[in-house]
Amino acid sequence: MGELPEHVAVNRAYWDAMAHEWVEGGARAWTQAEPTWGVWGVPEGELHLLPGDMTGMRAIELGCGTGYVSGWMARRGASVTGIDNSAEQLRTARRLSEQHGVALELIHGNAEAVPCADNSFDFAISEYGAAIWADPYEWIPEAHRLLRPGGILVFLGNHALVSVCSPLDGSYPIARRLERPYFGSHRLDWRDAVDDPGGIEFTLTFSEWIKLFRATGFEILDLTEIQAPADAVGSRSGISADWARDFPSEHVWTLRRRDRSSPG
Ligand SMILES: C[S@@+](CC[C@H](N)C(=O)[O-])C[C@H]1O[C@@H](n2cnc3c(N)ncnc32)[C@H](O)[C@@H]1O
Repeated sequence: MGELPEHVAVNRAYWDAMAHEWVEGGARAWTQAEPTWGVWGVPEGELHLLPGDMTGMRAIELGCGTGYVSGWMARRGASVTGIDNSAEQLRTARRLSEQHGVALELIHGNAEAVPCADNSFDFAISEYGAAIWADPYEWIPEAHRLLRPGGILVFLGNHALVSVCSPLDGSYPIARRLERPYFGSHRLDWRDAVDDPGGIEFTLTFSEWIKLFRATGFEILDLTEIQAPADAVGSRSGISADWARDFPSEHVWTLRRRDRSSPG
C-alpha cells in the first residue's frame, strides 16, 4: 500500500483514538430491528434509504464504522462488504457482527481506493462515513467504479448549511446566521476547533455536487433534506434540535449509476 493522503492518515489517527466512544452507540444500533438514520434517528419508514428486500444483492458500506448499517443490509438478505479506515472501529464491527451472528466481509482501507473489482456491487451506502470524511472528488468516482451500471449509491452527511453556520473558530453552538463562506468549503479542517476538535472533513456546494455526479456518470434520483422530528431535544455536535427543526442539518443523496449507453 502506498502512502496515505494526508486527510486519510489524519482521520485514521483520529478515529482510532475515538473508537471507544462509539462502541455503546454502535452496540445499540446493532440491536435495532428497524434502521433509523442520522443524528436525529429518523425512521427508515420515513426515509426509505434501503431496499426492503435485498436478497441476492451485493452491497458495500463505505466507511462502515461499527457496522450496524452493514448489519441491517445483511439481515435484509444482501451479501455485505464494509470498508473502514480505522482498525479500531473495525474491531468493534467485527465483535458486534459475530455477537449478532451476521456474516460481513470487513476491509481495513480507504473508501477512495477500495480493493474490490469494477462492477462488483448493486448497492453502495455511506452514513457519515466516506460521505463526510473522504474527498468527494475521489470517493464518488470510486463508488461509481464499484457499482454495476444501474447500481444505486445512497449517502447521508452534513448539510451545507451546517458548515456555513459553523463559527470560524469551530466553537458551538451552530449559529442562526452565516459564519463562513459557502464557496470554497470543500475541505474543512476541524483539528483546531475550540469545541470538540476533530479531523479533516469534506463537503461541496450544491452545484459542485451536481456537476460531480453528472461528470462521474451518476443520475440523481433524489435529494432529501432532513428535518429534526417534532419531539427531538438537546444538541448533536453543536446543532440544537430547534436549529434542525428550522434548517436542514443533514442531506441524503440517492444516485443511480448510468448505463454506459444512456445520455448524460
Ligand atoms: C461516524 S462513523 C460512521 C459510520 C457508522 N455509520 C457509524 O456511526 O458507526 C465515521 C467512520 O468513517 C470512517 N472513515 C473516515 N475516513 C474514511 C475513509 N477515507 N475511508 C473509509 N472510512 C473512513 C471512520 O474511520 C469512521 O469509522
